[in-house]
Amino acid sequence: MSLSINVKNAASFADVSAVLGELPAAHETLTGGTGAGNDFLGWVGLPFRVDPEELARIKAAAAKIRADSDVLLVIGIGGSYLGARAAVEYCVSPNYNLVRGDSPMILFAGNSLSAAQTAEIAALLKGKDWSINVISKSGTTTEPAVAFRIFRGLLEERYGAEEAARRIYATTDRARGALKTLADTLGYESFVIPDDVGGRYSVLTPVGLLPIAAAGIDVDEMLAGARAMAERAAAPGEDNPCWQYAAARNALYRAGYTTEINAAYEPRYRYTAEWWKQLYGESEGKDGKGIFPASVDLTADLHSMGQYIQQGLRNLFETVVCFERSGSTVSVPGSEDNLDGLNFLAGRTLDEINAMAAAGTALAHVDGGVPNIKVTVDEPSARSFGELVYFFEFACGLSGYLLDVNPFNQPGVEAYKVNMYALIGKPGYEDRRAELENRL
Ligand code: PA5
Repeated sequence: MSLSINVKNAASFADVSAVLGELPAAHETLTGGTGAGNDFLGWVGLPFRVDPEELARIKAAAAKIRADSDVLLVIGIGGSYLGARAAVEYCVSPNYNLVRGDSPMILFAGNSLSAAQTAEIAALLKGKDWSINVISKSGTTTEPAVAFRIFRGLLEERYGAEEAARRIYATTDRARGALKTLADTLGYESFVIPDDVGGRYSVLTPVGLLPIAAAGIDVDEMLAGARAMAERAAAPGEDNPCWQYAAARNALYRAGYTTEINAAYEPRYRYTAEWWKQLYGESEGKDGKGIFPASVDLTADLHSMGQYIQQGLRNLFETVVCFERSGSTVSVPGSEDNLDGLNFLAGRTLDEINAMAAAGTALAHVDGGVPNIKVTVDEPSARSFGELVYFFEFACGLSGYLLDVNPFNQPGVEAYKVNMYALIGKPGYEDRRAELENRL
């Protein structure tokens, strides 16, 4: 058992026990599938229902990519992108492309409409052997669809249509969407995103597993970590870590702490926090309610956002993910002249100093009026990533039901799409376009 949670420094600000009393009902709603959005609960049992044939196909595709490609271009946005990027950075390094060894470089496209980003990626691919994993559940999202059209063209230019088709892997719905049509028509190897798993809960499906395996990360270990946490999450009780997290953050929210900052003292966690922001922001921010999810990288942001956290508007609380070990040992060397005055640290490891920075900062923030939830895992690994993913997902489902929202839909995401479609001239949106142009 690796992950543990400590809500002591939240319970001094809000009545966590009272909200823990609501957890049996929220747990029953989630696990019994009786709540809003219950047709999107496929992720709950996912770690126990991995299809061995599908997993073998994912591993075979990853092995082919590793053998024939210098670069894997992953095209996707939101839930079809953040989990894979988070895993690659968390399990290997935020500098993955510099330290990857024999693994292919991984580039991400289709997560913006930036010409500069697109042109830069195209330039990086020149002269390289590369493949594409295009990921979109709906198969119609504009950003990845546009990127796929552009990069498919470049791949076909490089290899010809037939070989390009052998280098394209499509992860999409089993039946619907333009990407499915393209994949069937052009013969791409395809992976299915289960109907009952929404984008932000899909990292442990082929959405995440194919690019993660292509990066050389042990997906079996990741799934084992998720299974271990799923077993703990399924057991009702006040020591259930998901119950404690859901209760603490909801108690704080009800006491006026409306912004949650997710933080860690390891740079490799940055994209896991980005993934977490999508998970919680999209699941809870609706019906005029919800905790605003934010993130900082520590200690770096203590020298920027630290001022606000210590003394700004008192509606903040922190959830800090701490690692018992970073996975590397680096010590401060001694110095004869001690001109920098650091000899008091000589021989101490950076892990030790980092842990003291974390402990001191947590207490300073608590003293400044910022409640603190501490989540501890042993070390960054595929296994602890799987554990953390499932922990945050299950707690998110519980949290959504405590908040009385549907944690599995995202109706608000459509509003920008309608306006964008109208303004870029998508057929069928002509009236809306005229109205928007008037307002602009
Ligand atoms: O969580 C979600 O459902 C969204 O963030 C989607 O993942 C995102 O909009 C991308 O959608 P799609 O995979 O259909 O391209």
